[in-house]
Amino acid sequence: MKLWGGRFTKPTNELVEEFTASISFDQRLAAQDIQGSLAHVKMLGACGIIPQEDADTISAGLLKLKEKWEGGELPFSIGDEDVHMNLEKHLIAEIGPVGGKLHTGRSRNDQVALDMHLFLKAEAAELAGLLLHLVEVLVAKSEQHLDVIIPGYTHLQRAQPVLLAQHFLAYAGMFRRDVERLQDALKRIDMMPLGAGALAGTTFPIDRELVAQELGFSRLYENSMDAVSDRDFILEFLSAASIVMMHLSRFCEELVLWSSTEFGFVELDDAYCTGSSIMPQKKNPDVAELIRGKTGRVYGHLFSLLTVLKGLPLAYNKDLQEDKEGMFDTVDTLKTSLILFAGMIETMTVRRENTEQAVQQDFSVATDLADYLVRKGLPFRQAHEVIGKLVLHCIEKGKYLPDLTFAEYQGFSELFAEDLYAAIDVRNVVEARGSLGGTGTESVKKQIASYQDWLAVQGREV
Ligand code: ARG
Repeated sequence: MKLWGGRFTKPTNELVEEFTASISFDQRLAAQDIQGSLAHVKMLGACGIIPQEDADTISAGLLKLKEKWEGGELPFSIGDEDVHMNLEKHLIAEIGPVGGKLHTGRSRNDQVALDMHLFLKAEAAELAGLLLHLVEVLVAKSEQHLDVIIPGYTHLQRAQPVLLAQHFLAYAGMFRRDVERLQDALKRIDMMPLGAGALAGTTFPIDRELVAQELGFSRLYENSMDAVSDRDFILEFLSAASIVMMHLSRFCEELVLWSSTEFGFVELDDAYCTGSSIMPQKKNPDVAELIRGKTGRVYGHLFSLLTVLKGLPLAYNKDLQEDKEGMFDTVDTLKTSLILFAGMIETMTVRRENTEQAVQQDFSVATDLADYLVRKGLPFRQAHEVIGKLVLHCIEKGKYLPDLTFAEYQGFSELFAEDLYAAIDVRNVVEARGSLGGTGTESVKKQIASYQDWLAVQGREV
């Protein structure tokens, strides 16, 4: 017998039963559902809506269910549709008809919304923690490699040399904003919908504040229809998650490039790579590629829910059941990606011989040579042209700028003096960029210190 079977004379079509059931995936909310029910029944007792004795019996029954669930001894059935009705059935089986009093003043509509808020509140906080760990890893990696210079790129063409740490800290900036975005989303995840009933509130003298306090929510939804139909908090989470994945994906793309023979800037640890079934020499950056690939599915979940919501009239509609699988998958994908990514960064080695060679054998000090002439009084536009011609000359001769003789330099401009060679020494070039946020070592150290302060404020030990 269905919990709602009263007004029906025929059994549900089998395929309909399967089609409408959510138990296969919403059983993941069992712990939250029980937690919510415990708070609800406590309130029902405290407000005298049901006798205290009954409330106590129900609480004990719920705790028993919790124990059984944790021990894997709670069978769920498709016939009971979702986690809410499966649990209610089990409660009644456990303690008898008094279990039927639990659903007083409540609907599955506010119940499921509550479960989602409880679930996401814990998960978003955990994910923020994983992001903080990743920032820690990047900061540590930066500190360990302050002497490493790599080519900085624009248009994927070598542009100006930068500290590897400057590159890492650019990502730390993205992940810091990701933490802040999750923390901001948490303000709206941390809102309690319970007490909205099916859509209009309830005739019973419930105390919503008491329930919110019991469950640790900071705020209540002020409108019952908003409470049961709002899924903005999930959208915000999916959107923040999509941005995190995008950041990871960009970094992964760089790791794939950097670990190739062509770049050779880093070597990923064996533990984070896989081989080829046919080519014995291969060591593939599968983890980086898969994180990049999985970014697509997280974007998909965001778009899927946006689309589910766009045409929905108030208040609850069964379409809303489609909010769950994408959210669960996003949580899982993000969690695994963040853990693996941090491990991959932590264990990779920088191939200093290759980074050093890369910055010696290119033209990325050309801007500095132009700046040099500017300091000698030449207008920048003219300096730009002189150096452009010098670069062309080098290309024709198969040389780099430091290889040219002083006489050759003089042939291009009489403003050149012997100190030009120091001006294009790659370490000097990097150090010269001491502007706030620039790649000079002091500026990078300041950035590191600022992350350490921020991590301490976030409760991390640094
Ligand atoms: N399984 C449903 C969901 O996930 C629970 C709410 C059902 N409410 C209803 N009126 N059918 O959305």
